Amino acid sequence: MTESFTPALGHAWLSGFYDPAIALLTRERVWRARLLDQVAPATGETIVDLGCGTGSFAVSLAQRAPGARVIGLDPDGDILGRAKAKAAAAGQPVRFVQGFARDAAALLGDGVADKVVSSLVFHQLPMAEKRLGLAANLRALKPGGALHIADYGHQTGVMRTLFRIVQSLDGYENTQPNADGVLPDLISEAGFINVAENTALATMTGSIAFFRAERAPPVAA
Ligand SMILES: C[S@@+](CC[C@H](N)C(=O)[O-])C[C@H]1O[C@@H](n2cnc3c(N)ncnc32)[C@H](O)[C@@H]1O
Repeated sequence: MTESFTPALGHAWLSGFYDPAIALLTRERVWRARLLDQVAPATGETIVDLGCGTGSFAVSLAQRAPGARVIGLDPDGDILGRAKAKAAAAGQPVRFVQGFARDAAALLGDGVADKVVSSLVFHQLPMAEKRLGLAANLRALKPGGALHIADYGHQTGVMRTLFRIVQSLDGYENTQPNADGVLPDLISEAGFINVAENTALATMTGSIAFFRAERAPPVAA
């Protein structure tokens, strides 16, 4: 894979520290539990974890819903290796696919997913990729399917200051639009309906927002 992306912790050499850093800096157990409850994975569903990183959330999805088909998508071959090892150690049958958000429908198929979930990914993406990624994942969803995002969203007050820790690792250009609150509008502009933002969580690296949106259901004949 030759095109560039921001690695999990901003720099490839830091990827081995990703899991402990997220545990230390993001109130990880709280936001992952909240996101898992929001997604409410169920047996028989196909669920894509977009930008799955080291696979922590994909494994949690599979553990919560045995019989769900969980697919982790990420462009980083090194991080996918870590994710595969984590899923194998947990005995969870997660499928991992190497690719970018914008290629989700091309790689996985149109209308295949009941749910797409993404955690801590969109703040790292360039604006064009945020848009293309949302559009491709709208296509990957079944009509009536749901998108769930947990990510750094609109930052105000002290949260804006703390978010500079993330910006120092992931760069200013891609992260600032999230801090300015762009995500809900981008989700709507991509064609999702019923875009909802749930209560955000304050962390020591900024405020993590929770979004839910849907692909429009099929039109009755
Ligand atoms: C901060 S990590 C989050 C990992 C994981 N979702 C989690 O909750 O721990 C961001 C991930 O997004 C991936 N990523 C970067 N650019 C991407 C893109 N264009 N499409 C999909 N994933 C991307 C990175 O490789 C990295 O694994």
